[in-house]
Amino acid sequence: MSGASPDWLRDPRQLFDVTGKVAIVTGASGAFGALAAKVLAAAGCRLVLAAGNAKALEEVAAECRGLGAEVEAVPRRPASEADCEAICEAATGRFGRIDILVVASGKNDVAKITEMSPERFLDVMDANVTQSWLMARAAGRRMLAQGEGGKVVLMSSARGRLGHPAGYTAYCASKAAVDGITRALGCEWGPTGITVNAIAPTVFRSPLTAWMFEDTERARSVREGFLQRVPKGRLGEPSDLAGPLLFLVSRASDFYTGHILYADGGYTAG
Ligand SMILES: NC(=O)c1ccc[n+]([C@@H]2O[C@H](COP(=O)([O-])OP(=O)(O)OC[C@H]3O[C@@H](n4cnc5c(N)ncnc54)[C@H](OP(=O)(O)O)[C@@H]3O)[C@@H](O)[C@H]2O)c1
Repeated sequence: MSGASPDWLRDPRQLFDVTGKVAIVTGASGAFGALAAKVLAAAGCRLVLAAGNAKALEEVAAECRGLGAEVEAVPRRPASEADCEAICEAATGRFGRIDILVVASGKNDVAKITEMSPERFLDVMDANVTQSWLMARAAGRRMLAQGEGGKVVLMSSARGRLGHPAGYTAYCASKAAVDGITRALGCEWGPTGITVNAIAPTVFRSPLTAWMFEDTERARSVREGFLQRVPKGRLGEPSDLAGPLLFLVSRASDFYTGHILYADGGYTAG
């Protein structure tokens, strides 16, 4: 270390301090989105939470308010340019700025390629790729105008890197594209102080994967086959993503951009 001691040396926890930051979370009604919202609320962020399911969204917003956060709930998915603008305007209108964007919305649709229509393929690409791109573009424009950097976290998957035999052509392609956006935008915005990274889990408990946690023969067989390839020996929980998220939205990760952070119990290491 050279020069003067950095301000955080007395208390390195300051590296993870996001108190007062304004964070947008899309897909806040979902398993990861709700977790992200609550982690950021408890960490002292001011929040704009977005999702299509207004009732589920309001429940998460109420929990975050219970944790002491100021929260604006926007019952929209980032489905179009206008939706993304409205979500960002909710942040700048209420809080005057945007510091953090977490795109936690997304979907899977499992079908063999020969049984999947082009419309279903494009729906997955739209939810995971186009909406990530649109939301990063809308929030990024404002972060660039603010000129103080920012933090963008996209949601990828181990399936962005690995194939899967059970009808995952749309999902794998979409998450590989999210990885591409993450790397390209990380490069594009490198000099601006805005970091762009992705969290890439394997299976964690959510409505998308609930069946894998059940006590049925099919679930047991899929689970056991899968677990043989997970060094940590268990499936994930949304809470496993809290640490990676806090790292990627705080100044602790200021030198990390275009990075795909595998939150996968070692699955992609083997
Ligand atoms: N669970 C896993 O094992 C796993 C593993 C790797 C990656 N992921 C990724 O993690 C992200 C969150 O998934 P999750 O497991 O938390 O699932 P989830 O609980 O089903 O949440 C998905 C969220 O996305 C929104 N959504 C659903 N369909 C959408 C669409 N067509 N367009 C826009 N938004 C849509 C939903 O909100 P509304 O319906 O209220 O709009 C919901 O908030 C996804 O990108 C998923 O691919 C999950």
